Amino acid sequence: MSEVAQRFGTPCYVYSTETIATNYRAYRDALGHLPHEVHYSVKANGSLGILSLLANLGAGFDIVSGGELFRVLKAGGDPAKVVFSGVGKTAAELEYALRSGIGSFNCESQEEVELLDKIAGQLEARPVVALRVNPDISTETHPYIATGLRDHKFGIPFKAAERIYRDAERFPHLRFESISCHIGSQIFDTGVFFEVLEKVMALVERLRGAGVFICQLDLGGGLGVSYRRDENAPSIAEYAAGLANAVEGKDLRLLIEPGRSIVGPAGILLTQVVYRKIAESKEFIVVDAAMNDLIRPALYQSHHEIIPVVDRNLEVLNADVVGPVCETGDFLARDRRMPTVDTGDLLAVCTAGAYGFVQASNYNARPRAAEVLVEGSKAKLIRERESYEDLIRGETIDGDSQSAS
Ligand code: LLP
Repeated sequence: MSEVAQRFGTPCYVYSTETIATNYRAYRDALGHLPHEVHYSVKANGSLGILSLLANLGAGFDIVSGGELFRVLKAGGDPAKVVFSGVGKTAAELEYALRSGIGSFNCESQEEVELLDKIAGQLEARPVVALRVNPDISTETHPYIATGLRDHKFGIPFKAAERIYRDAERFPHLRFESISCHIGSQIFDTGVFFEVLEKVMALVERLRGAGVFICQLDLGGGLGVSYRRDENAPSIAEYAAGLANAVEGKDLRLLIEPGRSIVGPAGILLTQVVYRKIAESKEFIVVDAAMNDLIRPALYQSHHEIIPVVDRNLEVLNADVVGPVCETGDFLARDRRMPTVDTGDLLAVCTAGAYGFVQASNYNARPRAAEVLVEGSKAKLIRERESYEDLIRGETIDGDSQSAS
């Protein structure tokens, strides 16, 4: 890490090829004997280097925007292995995805189904559609990332979904062969996934009884990872093997959309101590990464372990680890017991591979960090650090575009 910092500077996201591959394979191998597809959820980390690594391993992709589709295609992903989720797909995005020939649309409202049918008709396409059903099941996670309750904006209630499936001939340009569900993220209690599966299976059976043959089930993502040293996240292999068991013999192709559990533990945010600052009542470690680089602590009060790259075995101190952004909410850790560190030391903010860089912004006119992918003893830069020029790209002072002047 010292070498990476020296070569590429800080703050910098650093990812492990090996960990990403191991996590992806844990899903794939556990589902191996079933017809299945692992669609990595691009929103967790959509950098081209990561997408290309996963595409080469054979992954499909779960996308939620035209931009994510563009990224997947640029990274060499197979459009036939793409599912498109999200409550607000625009006509332009639907058209782009149809023209790209993606594998399935996970529709979240009747209006969306109507629009997709119309556009598919114009393009003489007939895509596979899954209705994303809302199982009205609660999960123990941060309220901002739970999605499976009936008052959440996601999915279609079972009854309404059943009506649409039974009315399929109203939508002649769509193939209603699939069903999907996603109840939230950072879930530790895997029992809840099986509860959902059971509920969705019951609907699948009802629909089959009524002549609507659903042959594909997409259970979404959501498996949690350990952010704290003393946490024990569920094992990917056990979870996926359980799923395989549950759908065995049901005549279904199983899709899943994991994001965090594949890339989360595979990444750190590498940052350098700029100052130590002792205030009246506490101590601050001011680092060169901030909430604009990793917003999870500020937004979800989430915990990320922070460890010195070189542990000099000094005494433990109690401190807030904060960035340079002008907000009290700009912290990476609060009241954290950690080894004493000095100005210039490097720190690793752990488990930052998912929902880290993707949620970064230019707040306070801070260029976004570099990203580095490590494979064995090699480190390659997969995203350059932004420059000041990047910060103003596309802006003009008087409204005239530069090309016109
Ligand atoms: N599929 C759908 C439809 C989703 O909405 C999500 C995540 C996933 C799959 C992937 O879930 P995962 O396996 O990564 O849990 N920014 C938040 C997390 C938001 C998750 C949104 N949806 C965070 O930093 O915790």
